[in-house]
Amino acid sequence: MTAELAVNIAWEPKIIAFCCQYCAYSAADMAGSMRLQYPTDVEIVLIPCTGRFDVILALRAMEKGADGVYVAGCLEGNCHFLDGNIRARKRVNFLKGELKNIGFEPERIEMFNLSASQGPRFAEIARDFTNRITELGPSPAKKVRNF
Ligand code: FES
Repeated sequence: MTAELAVNIAWEPKIIAFCCQYCAYSAADMAGSMRLQYPTDVEIVLIPCTGRFDVILALRAMEKGADGVYVAGCLEGNCHFLDGNIRARKRVNFLKGELKNIGFEPERIEMFNLSASQGPRFAEIARDFTNRITELGPSPAKKVRNF
């Protein structure tokens, strides 16, 4: 067995979910309370509002080994800081273009909106995004840095 094959067999996606402390994190909490299953590959990072999300956060996460990143915030029109989620969506769309320019699949970053009562939707997003990243395979950054 080659070393590369051994690495591929052992690979599991690492996903960072930047969740706003209001709706998205509450939905994650509800998913946990309801004992809904979602992949353990998703690591939640709590942020005050998705308006706090910055492209540097996503790029740093990818640099540190994340294969995919998503941002989860309140429903449009329901951000507790008025338009944080609108600004976050613009940043995510901007980053999709930049990732494409450097040879990354833009599908490795996504924005989701959900309400605090959508625990099942939170679990569904985590499962679907994990499946997406699993199909894409390891981040191109891992091939360059070999980690
Ligand atoms: Fe949830 Fe702004 S407080 S997205």
